[in-house]
Amino acid sequence: MDIWFNPSAEIEKALSKAAAHTDGFDHEFIPGVRPTEPRFGDYQANGVLPYAKTAKANPRQLAEKLTQSLSAQALLDTAWVTWEIAGPGFINFRLTDAFLGAWLQAYGSREAYATGAGQIYAGKTVVTDFSSPNTAKQMHVGHIRSSVIGEALSRLFAFCGAEVIRDNHIGDWGTQFGILIYAIKKAAYDADAPQADPLEDFERLYKEGSAATKDDPVALAAARAELVKLQQGDPENVALWEKINRASNEAFNEIYRRLDIRFDKTLGESFYRDRVEAVYDELTRAGIAEESEGALVVFHREHARFAKQPFIIRKSDGASNYASTDLATVLYRAETLHAEELVYVTDGRQQDHFQQLFLTVEKWFAASQRPPIAMKHVWFGTILGEDGKAIKTRSGAPVRLKALLDEAEERAFALVSSKNPDLAEAERRDIANAVGVGALRYADLSQNRTNDYLFSWEKLLTFEGNTAPYLLYAVARIRSIFRKLDLTPGAGIADAGPLTTESERALAHKLIGFVAALELTMADLRPHMLCTYLYELAGEFSSFYNADKVAVDEPEVRAKRLLLCHRTLVTLETGLELLGIRTLERM
Ligand code: ARG
Repeated sequence: MDIWFNPSAEIEKALSKAAAHTDGFDHEFIPGVRPTEPRFGDYQANGVLPYAKTAKANPRQLAEKLTQSLSAQALLDTAWVTWEIAGPGFINFRLTDAFLGAWLQAYGSREAYATGAGQIYAGKTVVTDFSSPNTAKQMHVGHIRSSVIGEALSRLFAFCGAEVIRDNHIGDWGTQFGILIYAIKKAAYDADAPQADPLEDFERLYKEGSAATKDDPVALAAARAELVKLQQGDPENVALWEKINRASNEAFNEIYRRLDIRFDKTLGESFYRDRVEAVYDELTRAGIAEESEGALVVFHREHARFAKQPFIIRKSDGASNYASTDLATVLYRAETLHAEELVYVTDGRQQDHFQQLFLTVEKWFAASQRPPIAMKHVWFGTILGEDGKAIKTRSGAPVRLKALLDEAEERAFALVSSKNPDLAEAERRDIANAVGVGALRYADLSQNRTNDYLFSWEKLLTFEGNTAPYLLYAVARIRSIFRKLDLTPGAGIADAGPLTTESERALAHKLIGFVAALELTMADLRPHMLCTYLYELAGEFSSFYNADKVAVDEPEVRAKRLLLCHRTLVTLETGLELLGIRTLERM
């Protein structure tokens, strides 16, 4: 029997099927299966009561008929679950000892989990488009969410069996270059000379350029002319543009190195500059795009909001824009990368853009008889400062990601040093890196991504509650259990006896919940579902560890408890790795 499944979902399905075969269930019945308190079992279906109320029937009798169908039709395998009716019409389900034992034996490594999870996205090619900063600027706090959520989702997709192509769609072809090149020339800035921090200079020059062109039509025209020259391939401007991008990419890569983020491709907007013409042609010929006030646009008149607000795919001056390059990008990913699913991670303010992009692609691919492509916009809310407004530095500038990472590590170092003053400094630094960066990441991932969240150093660096330090500590604690017994985690647990205590069972049940957590996470691409699960698992482990002594004399009892310790360790470590968080041997 394949035991990789979510018991709750299986029971739900079986009860729905049973209802279809049972007298008295003639309108839609929702079984309502959820995990329950140990004294009732592992899961409870409580949908019969509300159903009986509307059907004006006796709930207990309905529950009896329903469970009879369940048995008669053999809809649930009693090798893994048994059930009984309780109270006025609840149905309680209990996982069998054989099933719990088999699960604990089978899922004892990251690889075993990956084999099970690998069924979810097997054979699919998914492009994850995330981080995607604009060049000529430093990455700031706004980029952390896209980077961190995108990396976690990329890992999760791969774990679930997909072929993942991570693509950093950097903004390297915008109007910012006209202004910046104009400012560089005006200031006679020598981009060839070695500079301490060229990106810093570019950012300053850009500000100067914006200020100079703001109310001065002559300067603005000069900046536009620099952009046109760049777009026409003028060697001097192209060389400057390349330098700007090189400096930007170096700074981005330093951040990615610190965050352990990697990309398979970095195909920025400029990569598509010669690919947009074909898009204009196809969409015009298919009658999807039309000229409006000199621009080429797509109306989605069936959507009230977009009937008046068209998707502009070529500006009235003939230049391409964010929409044109994104359309060309979809085509490239579909035809050259053979992607079946595209996942975009950006902030919520781009929802309109992506809705219009997706609608346009749907119509375009249908008209050109291309296979449809799945597209998902994974958007997120804003990080708020203590004042409840978008987080800013004291001077009102956006907080740089680099500064944020430095501060996270410094604060974690102080924390670790106060807890473990005796550890060597190098080790404290290493722990501080894992804790600091991990805490920053986890604070982001553990929030429902569509919410805004309040940034607080105190909250993210505490050892209490749903935080990275708490989970990293749980991992280190389990590792120390094995270390004290002079055992390698996972070794010496062959002759585990059956689970007997309530806390053993509860922990085993929670471990099985990993499947459901993963399914929930992937269903709507929300990593906080996995965080919540890991947090609950760590809590369940604590209860178990406080209730049941591990290093007892009876070899069978000791083996089974060590088995539970090890499985918890594997699950926590696998989950944290999927979130991009490095775990520690000790802390
Ligand atoms: N560069 C954009 C920004 O900073 C994000 C790009 C997202 N990806 C895309 N294919 N549009 O907002």
